[in-house]
Amino acid sequence: MARSRLIRLTRHIVVADAAEVPAGTMKMVQVDGTDILLVNLEGTMHATQGTCSHEYFELDKGFLTADSLTCALHLSRFDLQSGDALDPPAELPLVKYPVTVSEGGEVVVELPEGPIPINE
Ligand code: FES
Repeated sequence: MARSRLIRLTRHIVVADAAEVPAGTMKMVQVDGTDILLVNLEGTMHATQGTCSHEYFELDKGFLTADSLTCALHLSRFDLQSGDALDPPAELPLVKYPVTVSEGGEVVVELPEGPIPINE
């Protein structure tokens, strides 16, 4: 009996130059009209959904503190390592996307083909 195998196609998209996101800063970029937030935590790049999982609000208006990001609208904090919501009212985590910085300094985000997943 033949087995079916799920193959998930991904795409790698250059979204910024690493010099645009120095350590301790964040930058919003858009892919297919979806906001993606780049955060440089002490030299390590992270990519999360760009809007809050509680209500629609851009997270680049929030505040970075150590490993967490605070949404400026209702002050939920999110762990940037895991994406988890640390405080109410947000309950859902932020979706994180694999991200790398190339030797040439390009920030490359790995996204699935089709709609970009976000929690809302
Ligand atoms: S919109 Fe971010 S905590 Fe409410």
